[in-house]
Amino acid sequence: MKVAVAGLGYVGLSVAVLLAQGNDVHALDVVPGKVDAVNRGESPIRDAEIERFLAEAASGGRRLSLVATTDPEEAYAGAEYVVVATPTNYDPERNFFDTSAVEAAMDAVRAVNEDAWIVVKSTVPVGYTERVRAERGDERIIFSPEFLREGHALYDNLHPSRIVVGAPKGDAEAVEAAGRFAALLEEGADPAERSRQNPDGTVGIPKLVLGPTEAEAVKLFANTYLALRVAYFNELDTYCEARGLSTADVIRGVCLEPRIGSHYNNPSFGYGGYCLPKDTKQLLANYKDVPQSLISAIVESNRTRKDHVADEVLRRVNELVYRGVPAPTVGVYRLTMKSGSDNFRASSVQGIMKRVKAKGVPVVVYEPTLDAPEFFGSEVTHDLASFKSRCDLIVANRWSDELVDVAAKVYTRDLFRRD
Ligand SMILES: NC(=O)c1ccc[n+]([C@@H]2O[C@H](COP(=O)([O-])OP(=O)(O)OC[C@H]3O[C@@H](n4cnc5c(N)ncnc54)[C@H](O)[C@@H]3O)[C@@H](O)[C@H]2O)c1
Repeated sequence: MKVAVAGLGYVGLSVAVLLAQGNDVHALDVVPGKVDAVNRGESPIRDAEIERFLAEAASGGRRLSLVATTDPEEAYAGAEYVVVATPTNYDPERNFFDTSAVEAAMDAVRAVNEDAWIVVKSTVPVGYTERVRAERGDERIIFSPEFLREGHALYDNLHPSRIVVGAPKGDAEAVEAAGRFAALLEEGADPAERSRQNPDGTVGIPKLVLGPTEAEAVKLFANTYLALRVAYFNELDTYCEARGLSTADVIRGVCLEPRIGSHYNNPSFGYGGYCLPKDTKQLLANYKDVPQSLISAIVESNRTRKDHVADEVLRRVNELVYRGVPAPTVGVYRLTMKSGSDNFRASSVQGIMKRVKAKGVPVVVYEPTLDAPEFFGSEVTHDLASFKSRCDLIVANRWSDELVDVAAKVYTRDLFRRD
């Protein structure tokens, strides 16, 4: 079967590779460099499984039917499903996601293919699919939330926690298409997942076909829960730091309660990355006219956390001044959110940088994946040795053993040394 994918980012490329194991996949991106990389068997993003699958396919060691293109006709004509995985950035002026890239992809699909099922994998506002179906008079649009983690994009699709597809309950054809799409994703998953035991006693990958609005809500509520958990342990850490308690001891003691669990509890400078900041704000916007206090508290808590971390950095800068360092330089060790990532979209350390620079403190950035001399007016260096010697204080959202020799000047809240 011919399947097309619009967008070769984390979501689009991982879904394209997953489905190319058993289908004829044509993937389109508007950036020619990404298309060329995929056709050479190279991943334009850092992801161990995608890199491995593409390299094995290029050397003939793995069967993948995947062609990338910038030509909508070549990609979309004759496709039975078109998966749309284009960006949905949060627009602070409209207080809503900018879904124009999703609609641009839908227009390009319909210009050459009226019959394809368009499966929106981009994260969209709650109610979006029902609205565009009505506005466009197009009943062949369904929605499937994506739950992958950056850096483990293909791994998470090979081992999915669950597969969710949304189609209107009263539209039997759409529900049937949603079920077939869920089966396609399942077929691409690691075969061992079909016999796995789930904590709720079921066997295999849980597959849910929901209404599209419920499926959209699942995505935003799941990410907001993750943000809540990060924000919770960060506020716990803020308290312990302010009162001189050992955060690590408190977290260990709290998390041995099995209902809480000793996972996803490592303090950081704040939740960040592409999805959690924008998805929490979008869910908050969706609450318009519905009572809530928790969702806005989660969004606010992340700001409060960054203010606190920036204050701690500035306190250390002032101490250096008292100790005779005339104009201390602050070093930002990596702009990325997680170790092993090549992506720093909306990373929390940028919020710290902004606050520290606003007080007139010079900042130097060590970011080997950034090929530019400056980042928002701050010098970028790839020379770790000179970075270490020039900076009086180094802030690191995530610890790295590269910093062992300068540990005394590092400020981090990465207490458990894991993501
Ligand atoms: N990154 C994640 O961890 C993640 C997880 C779940 C859901 N999502 C959601 O999935 C969507 C995509 O995220 P991503 O991280 O893959 O984004 P990305 O920025 O990595 O990739 C998007 C790709 O779409 C391309 N593109 C833009 N306009 C296009 C068009 N009109 N036609 C075809 N391609 C076009 C871009 O060039 C880019 O390569 C977003 O809505 C995001 O919220 C992302």
